[in-house]
Parts: sequence; structure tokens; C-alpha cells
Amino acid sequence: MADLDRQAEAILRANDRGGYTVPTAGLYPYQWNWDSAFAALGFAEFDLDRAWRELETLAEGAWGNGMWPHILFRSDDPDYFPGPSVWRAGEAIPSSGVSQPPVAATIARALYERDRPLGAERLVGLFPKLLAWRDWFHRDRAGSTGAIVVTHPWESGRDNSPDWDAAMANVEVAELPPYERRDTGHVDQSMRPTKADYDRYLTLVAWGRDAGWQTGRITAEGPFAVADPTMTFILMRADRDLAALAGALGETAAAERLRADHARALEAASSLWCEDLQAYAARDERSGAFAEGITSAALLAWYAGLRDPAHEAALLATLHALFDAAPHALPSFDPRHPKFDAKRYWRGPVWAIVNWMVARGLHEAGHETEAARLRADTRRLIEGAGFYEYFDPRDGAGAGGPDFTWTAAIWLAWASPSKNEEWN
Ligand code: DGY
Repeated sequence: MADLDRQAEAILRANDRGGYTVPTAGLYPYQWNWDSAFAALGFAEFDLDRAWRELETLAEGAWGNGMWPHILFRSDDPDYFPGPSVWRAGEAIPSSGVSQPPVAATIARALYERDRPLGAERLVGLFPKLLAWRDWFHRDRAGSTGAIVVTHPWESGRDNSPDWDAAMANVEVAELPPYERRDTGHVDQSMRPTKADYDRYLTLVAWGRDAGWQTGRITAEGPFAVADPTMTFILMRADRDLAALAGALGETAAAERLRADHARALEAASSLWCEDLQAYAARDERSGAFAEGITSAALLAWYAGLRDPAHEAALLATLHALFDAAPHALPSFDPRHPKFDAKRYWRGPVWAIVNWMVARGLHEAGHETEAARLRADTRRLIEGAGFYEYFDPRDGAGAGGPDFTWTAAIWLAWASPSKNEEWN
């Protein structure tokens, strides 16, 4: 549908704030880390130079310790809470104090593959920063088994997933100054995290701020530390793509180091396998307990490049169970579980970016039927509801913010019929 291609392009242009893109106007008025990476994937379909620019502006916010923060506050917008005066973090640019899944590395490789001479030029500045960021993850966010830990639900990108419920229940809410949420002024509160969630989100921000944003210390001692399949798998994927880029750029020492680390990461990832769920699952670093239900993050194992013969068939069966449980795949949380909530953010809805990552992994592992189902579902959801932030897996309704950057980007790069069977 060429019409939707044009609409998607118009959304990216409208959300462009001059070198960086907001996820959607109003609800998210700043530069978010993985949203921005997906924006680059979308821009690459019609303006490769602008796509690189998106990654470059994101990299401008990198901290001296290598971390790329999850939000860059290039302004102070009264329409968003909590803003820069709450986080009080950042170096070159005011920022949040946590990171987000490093899809930017994988998307940098995708941009490079489209035009290698241009890519080699743009990576001169970018590659060392991507490398420093992945080193930071392995140094400051590695948990007891080597799986990567998130120190705030916002770091995972899956803010209110049931994966965090038990660990969040153990966070003692601090005395917080009175605050007013802004998100529920943009989107119905039935689609957003609860007040109990927000009290804890802010408690964790205050803890990190009081710890001077020393990231290693926050992982080791902070009130919330959960080994996360999203972060672990997306970082594994990033490491593979950075190794390929290192090879292409003649950075042989970096390429070798990345490959060696990848072998260790395979073992670390296996530590997230949960027999009870027959899936990879989040595990609380403090209590050792696995999460109680299956989330779409488990299905990122193929995207990571994980091919564990002991678990492959079981994981595929789990994927099929999720397919059978909802007409529109992939639900972010198991529809058979009592905590499933079809409209509440990461407690049920379908996210186009997750479909893209999971499908890509399935395609690479040769599971073409399943990959094709995810593409067809993503296409149908967007055609039926528009470029929403996420979708109800039961009735396909759009939910959250409208005119969403990453949904438009996934349309242009993969879900549109004009992409046919291409895999970029
Ligand atoms: C929000 O404000 O909901 C964001 O997801 C935090 O990163």
C-alpha cells in the first residue's frame, strides 16, 4: 500500500526535531535511545544520510564511562515527567541515568550494508562509541551468571512487564516529593503503568541520583536488579553485528575480542532458561527467582543467535502456544496468564519492533512459517489500526500514542507490502 508508505514517511518527517526524532509528539517529547535507533532504520528507506545522523545525535549523549543513556533531554519540556531536573544526570547532554537495549549497533550494521563506503566513513566516529557502550554493559551490568541486568524497568524498555513485578514489590517506596504524571494526560490510564509502578520508578531514580549515577555500584547494590532476556539477547546480537563491522573496518583486535565475548555470552544466556515456563525468562538477581509468566522477550533468543539444541524445540512450542492464544501476534505477555492485560503497555499488547526482531531471528534460524506469520500480523495490524505505539492482540485495536515513529519505521523497513519478502 503505497499510501501507507507515504504516511509512514510523513510520520518520520513530522517527528524529526532536526537531527533527532521523538517517538511521538506529546507523550514522549525527547530523544529515546532504542526509538531513535528504529527511527534510523526507517529513515534508511528514503534518506540514508539522515539515518546515520540519527545514530550520530544519539551517540552525542554517551557518557565518559561508555553508557548511552535511555533519554537525551535536549530541552526541558513541561509536558513530560520525570524530566532533567528529576534525573540530574548526563554529561555532554542532560540525560536519564539508565540505558536501553543496544539495537543501535545492529541498525548501524544494517545502514553500513546499504552503502559500505558511506558506512565506513560514518562509522569512523560512531564505531568506537558503540564499542565503548557494549563494553560498559559487560563491565557494569553483568549479573552473577554474566546475563545482563537491568537496574530500572525503564532500562529494559519493557516498563511495566510482569517480568518486574516480584522485584518491584521488594522496592520500598521512598518519601517522594508530590509529583504529577504527564503520560496519563496524553493516553488513557488503562493503557499505562499504575501509580504503584510510578512510585517505584521514581524511587529507583532517586536511589541512582543519590548514588551519583555510579552505574556499577547501582547494579551491585541498588534496590532493583533483574537479569533481563531483552537486554541479554539484544546485546548478544549487537556484539555479533559489531564483530562483523570490526572485521569490515579492519579492527581485527576488536573483532577477536567481540567473538570471544560472544562465546561466553552464549553460556550466560543459557542461565536464563526456565524449565517451569519452557522459555527464557527474567531472573531476579537478589532473590534468584524466575519471572512467573512468558513474555515476548523469551523469543528474542533466535535474534541473539542462540541455537541451543536442548531448548530449541521447546521454545518453538512456546511460540506456537502464544500464536494460538491470540489472533494477533506477538503478545508481549502470555494471554493464558491471569495477569495478561490486552491494552496495558507491556502486559499484553503487540509491539511492531518486537515482531521485527523476533521474526528476523526466526528467519535466520530457518523458521520461515513463523517469521512470515509475524510479518503478516504486523502488516494487518498497521493496515487496520494505523501507526499506533502498540496493538491489542485480541481485537487488533491501536493503543498508546498515535503516529508513532518506530511503528512507521518498521512499516517502511519490513511490514509494508512494498518490501515483499526482503529482510534488511
Ligand atoms: C515513559 O515515560 O513511559 C518511558 O517509557 C520511560 O522511558
